[in-house]
Amino acid sequence: MLKLGVLISGNGTNLQAIIDAIGDGKLDAQVMLVISSNPEAYGLKRAYEAGIPTMALSKEAYNDKLQADVAIRQELQRAGVTHVVMAGYMRMVGSAILDVFGGRVINIHPALLPSFKGAHAIKDAYEYGVKVTGVTVHVADATYDTGPILAQEAVRVQDGWTLEELEAAIHDVEHKLYPQTLERIASGEITL
Ligand code: GRF
Repeated sequence: MLKLGVLISGNGTNLQAIIDAIGDGKLDAQVMLVISSNPEAYGLKRAYEAGIPTMALSKEAYNDKLQADVAIRQELQRAGVTHVVMAGYMRMVGSAILDVFGGRVINIHPALLPSFKGAHAIKDAYEYGVKVTGVTVHVADATYDTGPILAQEAVRVQDGWTLEELEAAIHDVEHKLYPQTLERIASGEITL
């Protein structure tokens, strides 16, 4: 069973998909702790409602990035986390965390990497006019949106779609692909 520490910054719909997959018996895991880089993140409410311990860091806490990462690492270790799951976490995971959890930090990105890295991937792909984009689940390393790819799924951009329609299609795929990929890790099908 995976013991997950989930890092968020916002809405937490991917966190919710993971919580639901566990509840439905589709993912052999437990969310030990949710850590947010934003005390206002709605995802914290989702965690609270699921009975999961939470921790939030203020913006100021990241003024000293090393210290913030050390605090996060300590909480992850204290909670007995085996795998760190980034789910819309808008910060880099630094060496203090990677020294302990390196190779076991997983991220989801709303594009087909290595295309459209960065914080506005869906919009960037839409504005570029691609006909196919998608979702990537990968091992996170010390730079943004790199690291070995674990899973990808394509989304075909239908003629006439608005950006909002593409976003909805991408998020639907994310909410299936992330729990599925984590289950493939839990079952040993994917070795990190
Ligand atoms: C997702 O699109 C994810 O791919 C990206 O940030 C978004 C987070 O959404 N990294 P949510 O907070 O899980 O709803």
